[in-house]
Amino acid sequence: MQQKIRTKFKESFNTEGSLYTSPGRINLIGEHTDYNGGFVFPGAVDKGMIAEIKPNGTGKVRAFSIDLNDYAEFGLTEEDAPSASWARYIFGVCREIIKRGGDIQGFDTVFAGDVPLGAGMSSSAALESTYAFALNDLFSLNIDKFELAKIGQATEHNYCGVNCGIMDQFASVFGKAGSLIRLDCRSLEYKYYPFNPVGYKLVLLDSVVKHELASSAYNKRRKSCENVVAAIRRNHPEVEFLRDATMEMLNEVKADVSAEDYMRAEYVIEEVQRVLDVCAALEAGDYETVGEKMYGTHHGMSKLYEVSCEELDFLNDIAKECGVTGSRVMGGGFGGCTINLVKDELYDGFVKKAFAAYKERFGREPKLYNVVISDGARKLC
Ligand code: GLA
Repeated sequence: MQQKIRTKFKESFNTEGSLYTSPGRINLIGEHTDYNGGFVFPGAVDKGMIAEIKPNGTGKVRAFSIDLNDYAEFGLTEEDAPSASWARYIFGVCREIIKRGGDIQGFDTVFAGDVPLGAGMSSSAALESTYAFALNDLFSLNIDKFELAKIGQATEHNYCGVNCGIMDQFASVFGKAGSLIRLDCRSLEYKYYPFNPVGYKLVLLDSVVKHELASSAYNKRRKSCENVVAAIRRNHPEVEFLRDATMEMLNEVKADVSAEDYMRAEYVIEEVQRVLDVCAALEAGDYETVGEKMYGTHHGMSKLYEVSCEELDFLNDIAKECGVTGSRVMGGGFGGCTINLVKDELYDGFVKKAFAAYKERFGREPKLYNVVISDGARKLC
């Protein structure tokens, strides 16, 4: 991939730039908790975006996407927003840096990636983090890593229409080989957890489904959570996020919120607790409990938060049938992957069964990714 990027860059701009990369992520547990001020448990993976970049001394960005075989050119003021959605990620990062006082100029860039799109592995965060990290370095801006993650998140909010939390960008910037990160999404306090479950494998099964309207459904879920917080705050003004709420508080306002909003909040309150339970179980080396909580998350995401789909529920059922320790839909949902914690001796049988059954039911095979937990954003050369 690096060679392809180098060749295209040279061909397009007749010079050489620097190479930067930033990864996609997995998340062991803690889904839709980030924008509720709760905990998440992600890790960066060995799949990411790579970009070659060189300042060009003008006020324009000239960008080429190898994977989409598309070129875009845009300036750096608000009116210059490009129409191609992939280019808006790069434009958004530039704008968010400028809004924070960062003095950047135009640059030439070529990029490509191997994070599967729409798989719930945060290809967009990988793209944002690559450019946030690279521009910070190239223009010596001295922006800290927390702010780099927030720049990616603000790009999603202000230029891509997704009111996401901080998990994906944080994992992409702060990732560390061999470790998962427990992140408190309110304080941004974090702790690395070396993750090497001896006797188990962590594997992703990609349903290869991506539902339309995923981003509007995502924003709707977030709104439901905010509605419930507003209702609870009338009696408990100290509640800032659902993370602070208990089931008792939720039940107090049951009559004041819609049945749908109630279910959404119930899921979040339980999920925040599940992340903490998983941390304790990991510290005790108790993978059975970790797995049990993963199934709990799947059930909640499917029945209460309603962000699963037929294909993902099917893969989850197969995992259960095969005796897989833990399995659940990963990421925002509405398609993408399940993440599975599988005993070594069950791995082959599970994968074989999942592929055959999925093909029989849906007429196509899922994709399999073995997880390697890797480093976050960095300069390659
Ligand atoms: C997407 C968002 C994240 C997070 C997850 C669900 O990946 O970008 O901020 O909310 O969904 O956990």
